[in-house]
Amino acid sequence: MTKKRLLTGIQSSGTLHIGNYFGALKPFADMYEEYESHLMVADLHALTTVREPAVMRQNIIDVVKDYVAAGVDPEKAVLFKQSDVPEHTELAWLFQCLVTVPFLMQAHAYKDKVAKGIEASAGLFGYPMLMAADILLYDAEVVPVGEDQRQHIEYTREAANKFNLAYGETFIPPQEMILKAVGVVPGTDGQKMSKSYKNTIPLFGTAEEVQKAVMGIVTDSSGEKPEHVYAIHRLLKTDTELAPLYDENKGKYKNLKDALALDLNTFLTPMREKRAAISDADVQIILKTGAEKARARASSKMTEIRKKIGVQI
Ligand code: ADP
Ligand code: TRP
Repeated sequence: MTKKRLLTGIQSSGTLHIGNYFGALKPFADMYEEYESHLMVADLHALTTVREPAVMRQNIIDVVKDYVAAGVDPEKAVLFKQSDVPEHTELAWLFQCLVTVPFLMQAHAYKDKVAKGIEASAGLFGYPMLMAADILLYDAEVVPVGEDQRQHIEYTREAANKFNLAYGETFIPPQEMILKAVGVVPGTDGQKMSKSYKNTIPLFGTAEEVQKAVMGIVTDSSGEKPEHVYAIHRLLKTDTELAPLYDENKGKYKNLKDALALDLNTFLTPMREKRAAISDADVQIILKTGAEKARARASSKMTEIRKKIGVQI
């Protein structure tokens, strides 16, 4: 049986926390092998916000290391970077010539970003069409994304339909796959864990950093069971496994936090070690191999497209 084709893109957004792991990296690592998977570092999309070349370079390296350490085997997925495949920008241009300004103006992500003070560049405005190109170049049928990206997949279907209507059947309109594995992981203050709230437990931090973050978890519960400590503990162990510990330590928050920090460090150590063992040179090799595979597919699709639109004379 042939596997369905899957593609997703990731923008590095700084240091990862355990919310990112349980909400995005782990669900992806758990299912990507069921598909013919393509995992793309969206460095061209990142150019809409990152202007420092050194930061750009480091972010690319970090994202690859993070995903490989979290369990993505580069032999089992095509792991590549967008800027290594020039066909993405070429196809994005074609889509931009098919969709209208009023249509792109309805993008929530664009409006949200501009409201947050990100410069309203033409690149940011055209962002959804570059994303459509990322997906449609590979005939990806399934696209795992967070809820905030749902509309971009609708835009991708629209780009596919517009092209098919103008030039004949060429693209498969893809489906989004919204990953909802664990719900929301609480931060140390009990709100959603987020780098914007400074309430995170780092995914690849040192044992001491994890311990310190755990000690900072707020424990204003009614007295028996510190709910945020328990909610994080539940990501690692079942209710049954945790019951004796929490029964014996009713009200003893320090003991429970020590136990959580210990369990977290036991869980995170192998991933931390795996990440540390990946060198920058390893990342170069992974991306080079991925780019070769991605380019082969993208260039044959683009040849077909160039013929259809009449630029290949
Ligand atoms: P942040 O809120 O730290 O900026 P992002 O918005 O960059 O995180 O999220 C990246 C991915 O991690 C998304 O797919 C998102 O769903 C997931 N994620 C982030 N925070 C959490 C959390 N607290 N619980 C579950 N998943 C999360
Ligand atoms: N826009 C996506 C995000 O910010 C990243 C992305 C770029 C992407 N190209 C993609 C996701 C293609 C899925 C498919 O999260």
